[in-house]
Amino acid sequence: MSDNKKRILTGDRPTGKLHLGHYVGSLKNRVRLQDKYECFFIIADLHTLTTRPEKSAIEAITENAREMVLDYLAVGIDPERSTIYLQSAVPEIYELNLLFEMLVSVPRLQRLPSLKDMARNADLTEMPFGLLGYPVLQTGDILLPRAHLVPVGKDNEAHVELTREIARRFNYLYGEVFPVPDVLVGDVPTLVGTDGAAKMSKSLNNAIMLSDDPSTVAKKVRGMYTDPNRVRADVPGTVEGNPVFVYHDIFNPNTAEVDDLKARYRAGTVGDVEVKDRLAEALNVFLDPIREERRGYAEQTGLVDEVIYNGTLRMREEARATLSEVRKAMGLGGVWNGIRRKAEKVARKRDRSTDGAG
Ligand code: TRP
Repeated sequence: MSDNKKRILTGDRPTGKLHLGHYVGSLKNRVRLQDKYECFFIIADLHTLTTRPEKSAIEAITENAREMVLDYLAVGIDPERSTIYLQSAVPEIYELNLLFEMLVSVPRLQRLPSLKDMARNADLTEMPFGLLGYPVLQTGDILLPRAHLVPVGKDNEAHVELTREIARRFNYLYGEVFPVPDVLVGDVPTLVGTDGAAKMSKSLNNAIMLSDDPSTVAKKVRGMYTDPNRVRADVPGTVEGNPVFVYHDIFNPNTAEVDDLKARYRAGTVGDVEVKDRLAEALNVFLDPIREERRGYAEQTGLVDEVIYNGTLRMREEARATLSEVRKAMGLGGVWNGIRRKAEKVARKRDRSTDGAG
């Protein structure tokens, strides 16, 4: 049962398998947070509709969610302690979303740069109403289990700020129902892609997936962007900001080896091939247990489906309790109850009078 641990809500849109950037930026932290907090991890499939509402995109959600949750389990997210659930299967989120839409202005949402970025990345020429409401829906996600803490990347920080505003506004208008949640932004900078681009991303094709096999990892590392001025192994190279060394610093625990490679790279006495081979080895040592865990979970037929199913049922209970508080606080239920009582009363009266006549 839920003790008095504080609550966390965070999660991802289900786009499929996760990569090293996800691990460094969020997964690693989530695994740790499970010890101290009661955690809810949302599979935010409704959020994918804000840019991709087509039927074909919806049909891809099931498999994408399974792959993503396999990665969650493989890195150590524990469904015995944490709740992993499917957003679209919790009816109350649609309702809470609508109620929160009344508590925010259109210009407030239009000022968020993240939404314009998302529209541009999805090649949308106009802003869909639902995409403008993305952070309102996210507010619903966060406040549905009445979370206290929201660990997210920098790109989502402004959405949690909006969540705080909506929570305060709700509480001011209707009474204290929601905690005003704190944002927890990781101090890890975004992981650079294998091509040197600012961000590792599957759609940019510069990602090493947690489930890539050892030879795929080696191949991707061999193709990595390094110091472009270094045309030969005897030319001194730059270590700072070089993605190969950025990864070495994060994933190679052998600091003596990394220091030695850096010194020889700067002096022009080591080839890129050796630096990359050492990195591929380190990455594969890091990924081996994750791949093994993943295989173990994947082999158990229906296991991920059961995890998502049970988590969703658990979340539905939470959601029912919260919405009952919300309706009570707003007095919306009272409107209906007044109408219903009166209608039932006149119906009873009519029944009695027709009984007497019969
Ligand atoms: N917006 C998150 C993303 O960038 C996904 C998400 C949806 C989320 N609802 C959330 C994150 C609630 C944290 C809390 O993909």
